[in-house]
Amino acid sequence: MKEYMAQKPRTFKFEGVTMTHYFTDNWEKVKNFKAKPDDVVIATYPKAGTTWMSEIVDQLFFGEIRRESSSPSIFDRVPFLEFCEDFQTGTDQIESLLTSPRLIKTHLPVQLVPQSFWEQNCRMIYVARNPKDIMVSYYHFDRMNKIQPDPGAWEEYIDKFNTGQLVFGSWYDHVQGWWEKSRSYSRICYVFFEDMREDPAREISRLCSFLGLSPNETQKKEVLRKTGFEEMKKSMADALSNNDEFDESVSPFMRKGIVGDWKNHFTVAQNEAFNEEYRKKMKESDLKFKMEI
Ligand code: PPS
Repeated sequence: MKEYMAQKPRTFKFEGVTMTHYFTDNWEKVKNFKAKPDDVVIATYPKAGTTWMSEIVDQLFFGEIRRESSSPSIFDRVPFLEFCEDFQTGTDQIESLLTSPRLIKTHLPVQLVPQSFWEQNCRMIYVARNPKDIMVSYYHFDRMNKIQPDPGAWEEYIDKFNTGQLVFGSWYDHVQGWWEKSRSYSRICYVFFEDMREDPAREISRLCSFLGLSPNETQKKEVLRKTGFEEMKKSMADALSNNDEFDESVSPFMRKGIVGDWKNHFTVAQNEAFNEEYRKKMKESDLKFKMEI
């Protein structure tokens, strides 16, 4: 384990958003990042299906070449823009990508996305997931990830979620901010994790129209196969075992990948209290989430 991982990072407010230094240390470069017009950005609140979407988009663009050689890990094929640790930064990783278009991952709330992406009119895919499953997934992730803050007790975690104290801030602001932006900026494709679980073929077709791709039926089937939960769990095994940050013996990164696991974590009282809070915070929004499918 690298020395700096021995201690969990503290959180602080950065431009009004809860962050750790791993996402702000390289801020000058992130802020001034020069996008290319064909860059494709995959944006999400953490645990919404970023890695799944990254694999789908990478397979859609580069499936053929990936089959011919052993591919780098998905975390290297789709670098994480704002991430900065030790000697590695997301911006350097993006600049050294050999494939085009460049696929870029970010968890930034919409107001912190570098200006250049908007100026270059880049395509962006936003994946949103229902808040209860996000919370469960994030809680287990914070337990197993050495560079995430300690989650504390589950009861307190719900409170931290509701008050925007988890890393990358308020889920409510995140999903609504990107939703509002998608009304004025037409090159955002807003996708729901639950819809991807319900009918991945339909969602992949939607993505293809958005990205201007027309794979044949065999190629589409292959993308579906390679991006299924079990298949990804297998194909990511190496990347995950070499990942210093994750302690997979605490909780696996590819944990369950389902809709509705929250039912195994929330008590009846916690669920009722959360529903009340959710209603209040989402009352102005026409954004609707499926808590089960
Ligand atoms: S991160 O760390 O923020 O980038 O995590 P992220 O990739 O956004 O989310 C991880 C959750 O996505 C699930 N996942 C999948 N679900 C279904 N199918 C596929 N192929 C898939 N790949 C990843 C993963 O299991 C995490 O959800 P939970 O609920 O914890 O299982």
